[in-house]
Amino acid sequence: MLNYSPTATHCCNVPLTPTCSSLFKSSPSSSLPNSLSFSSALVTQQLASRHVYANTNPNIKSKPLHKGLKIMCSTSEPLKVVISGAPASGKGTQCEMIVEKFGLVHVSTGDLLRAEVSAGTEIGNKAKEYMSSGHLVPDEIVTAMVTTRLSLKDAQEKGWLLDGYPRSFAQAESLEKKNIRPDLYIMLDVPDDILIDRCVGRRLDPVTGRIYHINNFPPENGEIKARLITRPDDTEDKVKSRLRIYKQNAETVLSTYLNISKKIDGNRPKGVVFKEIDSLLSRVQKDKEASKSGKLTVSDSHSDGKPSNKENWRGIPTRLNNIPHSREIREYFYDDVLQATQRAINDGKTQIKVEINIPELNPEMDVYRIGTLMELVRVLALSFADDGKRVKVCVQGSMGEGAVAGMPLQLAGTRKILEFMDWGDYGARDTFIKIGSIGGKEVDEQDDMFILVAPQNAVGNCIIDDLRAMTTAAGHRPVVLVNPRLKDLPGSSGIMQTMGREKRLEYAASFEICYCFRLLYYAGTQYPIMGALRMSYPYEYELYKRVDVSAGKEKYVILSTFPKRPTGEEINDAFEGKTRNETKRATGIW
Ligand code: AP5
Repeated sequence: MLNYSPTATHCCNVPLTPTCSSLFKSSPSSSLPNSLSFSSALVTQQLASRHVYANTNPNIKSKPLHKGLKIMCSTSEPLKVVISGAPASGKGTQCEMIVEKFGLVHVSTGDLLRAEVSAGTEIGNKAKEYMSSGHLVPDEIVTAMVTTRLSLKDAQEKGWLLDGYPRSFAQAESLEKKNIRPDLYIMLDVPDDILIDRCVGRRLDPVTGRIYHINNFPPENGEIKARLITRPDDTEDKVKSRLRIYKQNAETVLSTYLNISKKIDGNRPKGVVFKEIDSLLSRVQKDKEASKSGKLTVSDSHSDGKPSNKENWRGIPTRLNNIPHSREIREYFYDDVLQATQRAINDGKTQIKVEINIPELNPEMDVYRIGTLMELVRVLALSFADDGKRVKVCVQGSMGEGAVAGMPLQLAGTRKILEFMDWGDYGARDTFIKIGSIGGKEVDEQDDMFILVAPQNAVGNCIIDDLRAMTTAAGHRPVVLVNPRLKDLPGSSGIMQTMGREKRLEYAASFEICYCFRLLYYAGTQYPIMGALRMSYPYEYELYKRVDVSAGKEKYVILSTFPKRPTGEEINDAFEGKTRNETKRATGIW
């Protein structure tokens, strides 16, 4: 029986999160056995040819998305990226552009294998039948190829972009065991029918290695057109088989990289897709540059001095019942919320809300948790300010008058914390970032967006009217609620106010969730954690089960996804292994 209530607590209650104080100023090399010999010279040459001709597309501008960000393509700790996605999701196409911009070494298992096949090597002969039938080539062949390729000097020095690997849980485990871990795991998301059309229409230029499509990206001239070839595995039947195999493996591979994974909508023009990838990679590179130079980034500035435990969890951070959370765990959530909020705002959403209820961010349990909430708000505000937006961070003031005046306990003192917080060295405070309250009068002409810290009703005082006045005054400008609590509370007399209740609830529901993370417990308990529900705009709700791996070790495994927020019953069904269409019976589970 799973508890789907928003409240969550912790087993080890440490009263003061370290993040309260930190709000104020203040690569592994891989050992790569070459167990299987293959023609690495051949594949290196083949890869190089793809790079030389990469990105002649005039639509792709190499413009950094973040103000003041200088991209350095050669650093002592270069970028390491995995790009994944179904057949024809556009991995190769995006890789051309990524290589052009970031100078990474592109390692495509498909390209490596095709080179072996066309050279008639022993490996090529073995791989041929698997590839032409749309099946995966045995792990030991592919893994040896990849690890050897990644160990070469150019990949070590320039960084790498791994395309089409790992494609199974065993392959992901192989990389983990060799301590080869990417900085970012990109997943291109494209609907099935589009994928089939893309595969069937794909053509390759054997001279330049460039990828074309008979309709989407026709060749530039007749000479190129005449020499184009079709891949033998690009027939409709084989594509369907490849797609099925991809789907069987995708979730388990993802579970290895969840904390560094970014799903990207690949069903958009390739330049638009690249823009989002470019922004992500630039951000990761910026963080690496900053840590290399010893300069702390916003999210680094609250080091708690504890050893890193990032390596101990994959995907969703583990040991979430233990607080205070480590810096890595907090950063995971700040970044996750930020990405979702950015996507929602970029898509033109104006009334959105974030609902995140890990123990560390749950001031209902412990007022000191407000420090972590403030830190999250700061990450959001500074990131939007970095993009040139004037952000007003708002916390409600005391409401009501006389004996009934007051504010929710959790928010007492929050405004002062906001004012004294470290808002960076670049004079962002009072220019790009302002502190305000909640209400129509708080909206100034120059404000571009508003972040509201945990707006909530207090007994006897309803925040909805002030909130409504604010969103009306804000018009088309985004208003982001972080952990709001807008359900109706009893009036000061202890009696439920019924006048206008329906309209109040309707208004509260008009804010669209752009990020949700909720821990799940058995009903009536708050320990142990059974799983988690996560949604990051615009993607589906993801349901995870927490699994004990070995003594003291746990991980989260994805159980199911839902296009809409699942009900308690749907969550229970997924935990019990029932399919979504199975006839529901009354379970008494909530
Ligand atoms: P591989 O070559 O990796 O094939 P794949 O994963 O099926 O991916 P594709 O190369 O088909 O597609 P893509 O995502 O690169 O899309 P592209 O950019 O070309 O692997 C082939 C085989 O090798 C496997 O089946 C397996 O047998 C074996 N293998 C490989 N790795 C393995 C591993 N790790 N383990 C075991 N076996 C392994 O784009 C596709 C088309 O769409 C193009 O025509 C393009 O022009 C067009 N397009 C791209 N982007 C867009 C866009 N945004 N809008 C419209 N059209 C677009």
